[in-house]
Amino acid sequence: MRKVLNFPTQVDVLGTMRIIIFGPPGAGKGTISASLIKRFGIPQVSTGDLLRESIRKMDDIGRKAKPFMDEGQLVPDEIVIALLSGRLHQPDALQGFILDGFPRTLNQAEELKQFAGIEHVLNLKSSRQVIMKRLSGRRTCSKCNAIYHITNLPPKKEGICDKCGGALFQRNDDNPKTIAKRLKAYRLQTMPLIKYYRKEGILKDIDGEQQSIQKIVDDCIKAIENG
Ligand code: AP5
Ligand code: MG
Repeated sequence: MRKVLNFPTQVDVLGTMRIIIFGPPGAGKGTISASLIKRFGIPQVSTGDLLRESIRKMDDIGRKAKPFMDEGQLVPDEIVIALLSGRLHQPDALQGFILDGFPRTLNQAEELKQFAGIEHVLNLKSSRQVIMKRLSGRRTCSKCNAIYHITNLPPKKEGICDKCGGALFQRNDDNPKTIAKRLKAYRLQTMPLIKYYRKEGILKDIDGEQQSIQKIVDDCIKAIENG
């Protein structure tokens, strides 16, 4: 397998809690991570958010990633790994992290394994029907990335983030055609990781369809604390 990695070494990363939150588009990875980071005091590292930030800045990574993301395809491993490597070198990530949206291919999982032992993989399970409803109504804050839903989790004031007052927007890739492509990419390229992590004995299935976000968060905390 080709090595494209420039991650911190194992010595650099003395993490105490390294978690992957896993699941298809719209399963609630970002929503649930937002609560887990408060509980455990470690940062959420979302490759989707990092890529969107690069696109906003229109830097080199953003320019390369945009056509893939607009098409609902995975961004090539080399690009995502370089981006993630930079983020995980930052001091706040050295004591642990919640990875949201990474790894998404077997190659990414193998590269990650080279430098960081993952302790928990939380597999948020959700049906296609629920995912379509969630993604079509999602709104995201342009300033702080907080996640809302027009009916499930509406902001107090329409179009405005409760937390920072930023403007809410609908993601480019949250249209039915692109959602279908993202689900296909998940099925073909990312789902094999379920078997991969189950074999490692660290995958925990979580019912991500529950209406109560707090209940899902509690299930995740239980899964983490019960090891
Ligand atoms: P990314 O940003 O990671 O998107 P995704 O995986 O498609 O997942 P989403 O962010 O759409 O969903 P989520 O699971 O976070 O759900 P959320 O909490 O928002 O990636 C985007 C793109 O970047 C990819 O397509 C790819 O191109 C590229 N990319 C990123 N990482 C990559 C990688 N490693 N390799 C290659 N390419 C990569 O919730 C969704 C909605 O549901 C919200 O409105 C929320 O309010 C609502 N909701 C959540 N939970 C509940 C609940 N329990 N009840 C009711 N409503 C709920
Ligand atoms: Mg997300």
